[in-house]
Amino acid sequence: MSQTVYLNGEFMPLAEARVPVLDRGFIFGDGVYEVVPVYARKPLRLAEHLARMQNSLDAIRLRNPLTTDQWTHLVSQIVERNPWDDQSVYVQVTRGVAPRDQAFPVDATPTVFIMANPMSKPSAEQRERGVGVITAEDFRWQRCDIKSVSLLANCLLRQLAADAGCVEAILLRDGYVTEASTSNVFVVKHGVIVSPPKDRRILPGITLDLVLDLAREAKLPLEIRPVTERELREADEIWVSSSTKEVLPVTMLDGKPVGGGTPGPVYARMYGLYQEHKARIAGAGAAHA
Ligand code: PDD
Repeated sequence: MSQTVYLNGEFMPLAEARVPVLDRGFIFGDGVYEVVPVYARKPLRLAEHLARMQNSLDAIRLRNPLTTDQWTHLVSQIVERNPWDDQSVYVQVTRGVAPRDQAFPVDATPTVFIMANPMSKPSAEQRERGVGVITAEDFRWQRCDIKSVSLLANCLLRQLAADAGCVEAILLRDGYVTEASTSNVFVVKHGVIVSPPKDRRILPGITLDLVLDLAREAKLPLEIRPVTERELREADEIWVSSSTKEVLPVTMLDGKPVGGGTPGPVYARMYGLYQEHKARIAGAGAAHA
């Protein structure tokens, strides 16, 4: 079965999807997106992803072309029309096609694109041994809470990590941890999970919220507060989270072992809680959770 995507009102094979070169997504990176994980054909926290997309659209002053019910229906259609049980669904809205001018066009129609890919979860080895990350200066703009398709800075930072043979770059701004190039960051010290507050310097991760909810339900010690570079370097455990990484242990930071150099006990607990949560969702009758 070939990969089916949705573009501006029609389902079609990926290879047939075309966007005009004057689309402002192509010319200016003028658009927003979401990546929704799907397990056993059930989207995880779809309502939260759609709410975050609405916030991103509001922040860039772009009218949402569809209602929440229409989005929910289209996502379920894409999930149904593609061959994999576990998928990541990519949703993008741009300001549409218009003559090149930075100011907003008055009458452009937003471009809506949805595609599914097979979910590429971290490998068993990455979970069991943990992954390596580097640190880098967070040189992105001051609206990192918007899930914008303008991802050049994130691409440059993620490539720095790839050049170093690492999965992520943890970003530092003014001596504090913000997030990573494609994920949020947690540190653990003396059994306490610490995560930076949600503000304009980070993307309010849906997986971040899920991890926080699971920690609260299990009554794990938790603090939401700024994390200094020093705390990062002295942490017992570091985790990164995203819709595609789930929650992943970091065991090497800038070439030095984190804690004992293996995934820690608090990670093991959280990983268990996360998998239980996924199993509950997959087993539930609801179309999404
Ligand atoms: N990225 N921070 C950044 C900069 C991200 O790009 C992402 C996700 C996250 C985690 O958000 P969430 O838990 O909602 O996935 C944090 C997605 C997966 C991507 O761009 O592919």
